[in-house]
Amino acid sequence: MTDESRWWQRGVVYQIYPRSFQDSNGDGIGDLPGITRRLDYLQQLGIDAIWISPFYPSPMADFGYDVADYVDVDPLFGTLADFAALLQAAHARGLRVILDLVPDHTSDQHPWFQESRATRDNPKRDWYLWRDAAPDGGPPNNWLSNFGGSAWAWDAPTGQYYLHSFVTEQPDLNWRNPAVEAALFAVMRFWLDRGVDGFRVDVLHGLLKDAAWRDNPPNPHWQAGMDPYRAQLQIYSRNRPDAHPIIMRMRQLLDSYPDDRVLIGEIYLPNDELMVYYGPHGDEVHLPFNFQLITLAWNAEVIRAAVDAYEAALPAGGWPNWVLGNHDRHRVASRVGPAQARVAALLLLTLRGTPTLYYGDELGMTDVPIPPEWVQDPWERNVPGLGLGRDPERTPMQWAATPYAGFSTVPPWLPVAADYATVNVAAQDADPHSMLAFQRTLLALRRAQPALAVGSYQSLPSGDSAVFAYRRTAGDQSLLIVLNLSPDLRRLVLPGAAATALLSTHGDRGGPLDLAALDLRPHEGLILREG
Ligand code: GLC
Ligand code: CA
Repeated sequence: MTDESRWWQRGVVYQIYPRSFQDSNGDGIGDLPGITRRLDYLQQLGIDAIWISPFYPSPMADFGYDVADYVDVDPLFGTLADFAALLQAAHARGLRVILDLVPDHTSDQHPWFQESRATRDNPKRDWYLWRDAAPDGGPPNNWLSNFGGSAWAWDAPTGQYYLHSFVTEQPDLNWRNPAVEAALFAVMRFWLDRGVDGFRVDVLHGLLKDAAWRDNPPNPHWQAGMDPYRAQLQIYSRNRPDAHPIIMRMRQLLDSYPDDRVLIGEIYLPNDELMVYYGPHGDEVHLPFNFQLITLAWNAEVIRAAVDAYEAALPAGGWPNWVLGNHDRHRVASRVGPAQARVAALLLLTLRGTPTLYYGDELGMTDVPIPPEWVQDPWERNVPGLGLGRDPERTPMQWAATPYAGFSTVPPWLPVAADYATVNVAAQDADPHSMLAFQRTLLALRRAQPALAVGSYQSLPSGDSAVFAYRRTAGDQSLLIVLNLSPDLRRLVLPGAAATALLSTHGDRGGPLDLAALDLRPHEGLILREG
């Protein structure tokens, strides 16, 4: 396994939200030259690949996830030449570059949709999902938009509804039309020909909808105050079995290129449904994103059970992966609390499988409260007050204690965190006990120890409901990971005799430890070498 493993199995992916990483031209918005400028930082951090959220031309109704041209760069972010420079500079440092492919929908400003909505009989009409009104004049069925209200918008000039699974300005493409597949595959080739190392595919389980347009049933577990989208079980509007042949063809396209290009799918589904996206012969996506560490309660027993169930559910040859944060979910340091953030990082980087790290989490950045007049996210605007808004986790990267945290020279598009004078790269760089120093050590250890990067996983009875313990093994090397998810001191009795501490979240343990009476301090996590 060790010798045959692929870069995307051993490697660590780092997600960059380009609006918020580094502004290079003083307009308060991050851009591609800004990312290029920070590649040395990323190389020193010890990650292997960057995934960049969309930077294509866009009216920004959903901050780039509404694409108006798949094969160019929005002037806000730079030019195609800036992208070429970024790609070359990343590759020169041994860093891979993964792009965000958004195949389910375009912007309503995309020329394809402009043509599609012009007349009922134009050649692109069938590139989108147009339906007649129900007999009462209302929408064709009961499907909901992820971002509030019906998923159907009325187009008065042509007298039909179109489907938009997200905001009204994001009409869904019709992937049952082979011309749509051909157009999006040409987009993939455009970027693969330029040398990108793969794609993270947006809402991959949303590619196809029910061919008979059946109503979704109500969700019996939904209650007032919850996300209104969850009032239904989304069984007909997504995750359709007939989408899998399309995904196989996507994979074949990638595999027709040299150098191990990777296909990652954004898929929010339970284990049994998620696993289907590996494909019956490992011939769909390499990594269907596994979001459990984001959605589960932060409880050692819950997490142990979930990790074991996920490991057991993986198909033969299916490579696991773990995600702790992204641009759609509240930051891990806010979800679990700053004191647990190191334990969470230790978990992410020592479980079996490819980890994805969200920018700023390596510093312990937290959600930033957004005053109502600052709200940018269409989700919060459409469905206010439920805590669904995504601006808090999209605030500027904190580089230094200088104005605007070194992100920009002018007020940024979202406010900078109040704690930026202490939580920033420059300050943490100078402090050997900082979160950043801890993450660098952890990433270096992961790279150096085959047991962590590619070894087997086995959970261990820790005898304590607050502690998650597991073993990672490769060849004759065996490591124990012991995580105290509680704010209390815990004494453990672990199988085995002596062990040596390789790393503690608290930074100051070394030498032999007695496994029969192992004291874990509050919020402490350890990596131990057995024997
Ligand atoms: C994905 C993206 C999210 C976006 C949505 C619609 O879930 O991660 O940010 O709003 O798709 O494209
Ligand atoms: Ca800029």
